[in-house]
Amino acid sequence: MALKVGRGAAAPPFLVMEVVTAANARQAALAPGAPHVIRMEVGQPATGAPAGAVAAVTAALRERAPMGYTEALGLRSLRARLSRHYQDWYGADVPLDRLAVTVGASGAFPLAFLAAFDPGDRVAMAAPFYPPYVNILTALGMQPVMLEAGPETRFQPSVAMLERLSPRPDGLIVASPCNPAGTMLHPDELAAIAAWCHANGVRLISDEIYHGLHYGHPIATAATLSPSAVVVNSFSKYFSMTGWRIGWMVLPEDLQRPVECLAQNLFISPPHIAQVAAEAALDCAEELDANVARYRRSRDLLLRGLPGAGFERMCPAEGAFYLYADVGERTNDSRDFCARMLAEAGVAASPGVDFDRTRGHRFVRFSYCGPEADMAMAAERLAAWR
Ligand SMILES: Cc1ncc(COP(=O)(O)O)c(C=O)c1O
Repeated sequence: MALKVGRGAAAPPFLVMEVVTAANARQAALAPGAPHVIRMEVGQPATGAPAGAVAAVTAALRERAPMGYTEALGLRSLRARLSRHYQDWYGADVPLDRLAVTVGASGAFPLAFLAAFDPGDRVAMAAPFYPPYVNILTALGMQPVMLEAGPETRFQPSVAMLERLSPRPDGLIVASPCNPAGTMLHPDELAAIAAWCHANGVRLISDEIYHGLHYGHPIATAATLSPSAVVVNSFSKYFSMTGWRIGWMVLPEDLQRPVECLAQNLFISPPHIAQVAAEAALDCAEELDANVARYRRSRDLLLRGLPGAGFERMCPAEGAFYLYADVGERTNDSRDFCARMLAEAGVAASPGVDFDRTRGHRFVRFSYCGPEADMAMAAERLAAWR
């Protein structure tokens, strides 16, 4: 007899990860000495954890410090240091009680969604979007609602779009800078959205994972703009620590205890050793800012080089490390386009269908956080492939 398989098992693949597999296979099949595959498919810094984080972990291990469970909301010393981070970066007073350390931003989403929403609740977001938002909400029985956004709003949601939604959603997810478009909600726009959500009883979830990676525009955190918003952040991007699986949330008062109880049950605690590293990483600005300068140079180089390689229509890349290119004049099937680009030009990028199920067939996302020399070579290879 066939047994029941739960709704969560229907979560679609995260296509970026499938491109990673294809690019690995292509690299492995290359003859010795053949030009390597240029990796622009995944949002993973090529750099390791900052030196200060590595030193802190090495010292802790050398001293054989016990690496047990921590409190479910994380080490108090890390939460206190994060509180100081809000002072340093935003001049904001975010007390330790509002901070929860999580297993990456990914571990924060189920905690936030389960604490804030019920099955059946409608949670809006701009399309294009980061695919796991939709896949996690769906697995939890919640309903993602798409706000189709285009170049007019820099692929971001607006209060006008929210006003047009009927019925009102229960929640809204925003990301600034965002993945895949690399665009931002400027402080006045985020403030307007945060105020609208609070006034209309819509729970705002602000994914701030790309804070620190922005190239000119000032940035605001929802933590200071709304008493009801949940902020999600991570050590994966600016802090260059993807595999350490460590992130955090700023919680509104009504969700502090619910999130703590959920975290105790779902994860017990975030990894202890990664929390030691994260606390030290918060003091490594000099090294990390050098990475940001490198991303900025790679962005500038690609913005100059890619139009000549047939990628003329790109979003204004204000932050993160992505370029989202409209390739509608070259293909109607971005999956096939990316497969050919990998096979023929040796450049791996992600098809837009991952990020926008209705319009993504004509978009490609390039990630430029890889080595700077590779980014220069990518523009040359793509121009020759054109
Ligand atoms: C917008 C966004 N949010 C969250 C995540 C998940 O990050 P983490 O490594 O912290 O789980 C990513 C990863 O790429 C992302 O792009």
